[in-house]
Amino acid sequence: MSITDRFATLYGRSPDTAWRAPGRVNLIGEHTDYNDGLVLPFATGMGVTVAAARRDDGVLELASRQAGAGVVSARTADLAPGSVTGWAAYPAGVAWALREHGVGGASVLVDADLPQGAGLSSSAALECATALALCELHGVTIDRRDLAGICQAAENRFVGVPCGIMDQSASLLCTAGHALLLDCRTGGSEHVPLPLGGLAALVVDTRAPHALTGADYGDRRAECERAAALLGVPALRDVDDLDGALRALPDAMLRRRVRHVVTENGRVERAVELLRATARPGKELGAVLTGSHTSLRDDYEVSWPQADVAVTAALQAGAHGGRMVGGGFGGSVLLLADTGRTAEVITAVTKSFAERGWQAPHVHTAVPSAGASRLL
Ligand code: GLA
Repeated sequence: MSITDRFATLYGRSPDTAWRAPGRVNLIGEHTDYNDGLVLPFATGMGVTVAAARRDDGVLELASRQAGAGVVSARTADLAPGSVTGWAAYPAGVAWALREHGVGGASVLVDADLPQGAGLSSSAALECATALALCELHGVTIDRRDLAGICQAAENRFVGVPCGIMDQSASLLCTAGHALLLDCRTGGSEHVPLPLGGLAALVVDTRAPHALTGADYGDRRAECERAAALLGVPALRDVDDLDGALRALPDAMLRRRVRHVVTENGRVERAVELLRATARPGKELGAVLTGSHTSLRDDYEVSWPQADVAVTAALQAGAHGGRMVGGGFGGSVLLLADTGRTAEVITAVTKSFAERGWQAPHVHTAVPSAGASRLL
């Protein structure tokens, strides 16, 4: 059944609009966004669709195909952090954040083909599709860059997840065939052509689900802020002399965190250079990706066993490189391999999981896709 038909069955009327927002795969630049650094994500083909109809009585109704039956209902005037929980907190948070821009009530139905907890930013996709639908329904025009900030604020302040700006920016600003080079300090961005050519970007959902609401993500942010304060800089983006910074920090753990952030920003710049200069960047780009993984594993300590095993098995089977993507502690791995090698790589990763008695991973080929768009 189409989302329009489901909407009609649920709410007894047709939706006025429907928007689809994609998830993202981050090519490189992990845990740099909240350090005012650089990121290079691309939008995936998978995403979240939001069908919606305007209501003029100030009531917000939220339903999701994936979450099952039941409509969550609230008056927009009563929305406050903590007033809606679970999956519905994301769209409710967006309605709350958009209230001051003149957005009011709506009936909303959500449908997603992007798995939750796979580290492909299903939350941001849900926020962005909701924001675009609500703005259209209430005749509110907001620049997409600003809308990304509003969605991030909804997640930070309403849902209580201290995420950065990368995922919402990717979902709203990416274009097909490109990665988005985003400077998270200035908000400046560029579309970098990502002609994968003879390369495949394999996304391995390791089936170890992650949740950013866990303390670990917030801990990393706090550690970075502590290191920046000790170094006397506004953010770790401002560390120009890594060796000097490492000498100045008394704590080995903070030294590792700083080394990751500073070297990761460098790897984003290197990846962009390679994409611009090399027709077939597979080998070198792969090495940069693997360097990122090693740094996230050893210095930032956000990797997880399935991710490490997937990367190692893929490299042994001839992949050019690979890394965990997203916040970490579960989720997905990105592997770069020649298209002629993908079968061997997938077999090797699957075998390495089976040998350890882990659930079989889900693997798909990601295609750099367009950002959010209107469906109806
Ligand atoms: C999550 C957050 C992002 C970013 C990544 C790590 O996806 O939502 O803002 O911090 O983790 O790079």
